[in-house]
Amino acid sequence: MKVTIVGAGNVGSTCADAIAYKRIASEVVLLDIKKDFAEGKALDMTQTSSLLGFNTKIVGSTNDYSKTAGSDVVVVTSGIPRKPGMTREELIGVNAGIVKTVTNNVLEHSPDAVIVIVSNPMDTMTYLTLKESGLDKHRIIGMGGALDSARFRTYLSFALGKPSSDIHGMVIGGHGDTTMIPLTRLATYNGISISNLLDKDHLDKVASETMVGGKTLTGLLGTSAWYAPGAAVAFLVDSILNDQKRIIPCSVFLDGEYGQKDICVGVPVIVGKNGWENIVDVDLNELEKDLFEKSANAVRNMNSALDSI
Ligand code: LAC
Repeated sequence: MKVTIVGAGNVGSTCADAIAYKRIASEVVLLDIKKDFAEGKALDMTQTSSLLGFNTKIVGSTNDYSKTAGSDVVVVTSGIPRKPGMTREELIGVNAGIVKTVTNNVLEHSPDAVIVIVSNPMDTMTYLTLKESGLDKHRIIGMGGALDSARFRTYLSFALGKPSSDIHGMVIGGHGDTTMIPLTRLATYNGISISNLLDKDHLDKVASETMVGGKTLTGLLGTSAWYAPGAAVAFLVDSILNDQKRIIPCSVFLDGEYGQKDICVGVPVIVGKNGWENIVDVDLNELEKDLFEKSANAVRNMNSALDSI
């Protein structure tokens, strides 16, 4: 099982590392336009194999797409990351061109791959990839919800003082500071509703912390985060390659589901070897439905910027 990761920056290389370490794939190809950079990262990671106990082959390449041939999954992280004070949306002009070129190159060598989009603004880049490639919608997955849900579970774990592995919760909607929707009403601690364990003020605080989870890190680090984004992609890739059929909130093309059409935005989907298989219909209340509609409208508005690129 072969995975290509385009972009050996912080997110791409952390993702490659997690895939190898967790033995999710037998081969990982890391590609970057910066000369020798991916080769260096791949060799450094390979030198951890005897220490960490994995046999995954990690190949680095300076933009040689022939090395990626026959990949089962391709992860696109290329593009510029946001800096403090920038929104993900401000990256659209530069990243749209990059994502288009990368997708064409990738598909030339791996026509059957499932494509995971990480580049921001992620929902718009997912939509762009779908429209540009003309691929079956099930093969294009935007990863934002996997990351946002991991951040949500982390902040719930802080508020409850319980391990995050015992906590379940989902974030749907757009992958933006104001568009994501942490579903606090449906979050559980080992099957117990978290609404019974935390009062409204605490739940609202967790939701706000989750929504600016990425922004907080950009402020602290001076650039976009990478450990949680890299691990979130690896989690998603694992569900695809190993056909786990996990429910993961991802940005996928909606054709009437959740009341939306012609848009990619985060909803819970079953993820398996063919990409996303089904959209899971969660029974949202009126407030959540309203938030989802607003979120989709904001993403749609952002997509309209693609027309002038
Ligand atoms: C973040 C970037 C990857 O949320 O969008 O950290």
